[in-house]
Amino acid sequence: MTPNTTSLIELPTDLDGTQLPQHVAAIMDGNGRWAKQRGLPRMMGHKRGAAALKDLLRCCKDWGIGALTVYAFSTENWGRSMEEVDFLMTLFENLFQAELAEMVLEGVKLEVVGDLAHLSPSLYRAIDRAKTATQHNQGVRFTVAINYGGRQEIVRACQTIATQVRAGEIEVADIDENLLSEHLDTANLPDPDLLIRTSGEMRISNFLLWQLAYAEIYVTDTLWPDFDRRAFHQALLNYQQRHRRFGKA
Ligand code: IPE
Ligand code: IPE
Ligand code: MG
Repeated sequence: MTPNTTSLIELPTDLDGTQLPQHVAAIMDGNGRWAKQRGLPRMMGHKRGAAALKDLLRCCKDWGIGALTVYAFSTENWGRSMEEVDFLMTLFENLFQAELAEMVLEGVKLEVVGDLAHLSPSLYRAIDRAKTATQHNQGVRFTVAINYGGRQEIVRACQTIATQVRAGEIEVADIDENLLSEHLDTANLPDPDLLIRTSGEMRISNFLLWQLAYAEIYVTDTLWPDFDRRAFHQALLNYQQRHRRFGKA
């Protein structure tokens, strides 16, 4: 093996740098099971999951992947215990604060998607500050989905468009796929090429329903806190073996 494939700091030599996904999306699942396997509280899984995410983001920079979008909290996750929900919200707030300087330094452009109006004012402020501080950055476009639901996002877009029609600003005939895309939280981001889901679950769980129309889906049994560069390398190798047809013969 070459040093590249052992250290995995540079793009592994068995990956084709011209055929990388430009946008990777990830459903970061399995934190609870990771902790349970070790007899630890679920919260420890979330903490380790955050560390795995940090390394994945850096890996995207190192390997030349332009955009990473991750599912951090779904609209359905409010159904968890108050202790877990509170822990996650505090973790997000702390991370946006603690990692901001490094994100600025590394040129990361942060975006947060989901219904942010219902987050706590302090989390909202931390998000707003981090987004503003990174808005002109030219590096990896890093999007975090918090209080995000794909159906809800489409409903919100429809409400905005309907309001514009009622106000006479646009015609019904102006509504097409591009217009709807532009009203989603992910406006300006290309659709993901690759969706990774960890922990072996073969479902989308309300993530990016519109945007994933033609994404390649990769499911691995690896639990999210264990999803490291080696696991990402495997996902990319698998992706590069796919034949993306987009409906053509
Ligand atoms: C994913 O891990 C993190 C969030 C949904 C916030 P889980 O917490 O769903 O972990 P499992 O699926 O219970 O193992
Ligand atoms: C999806 O994981 C949501 C996030 C990773 C944030 P869940 O653990 O909530 O999904 P289900 O319940 O297994 O579908
Ligand atoms: Mg889960």
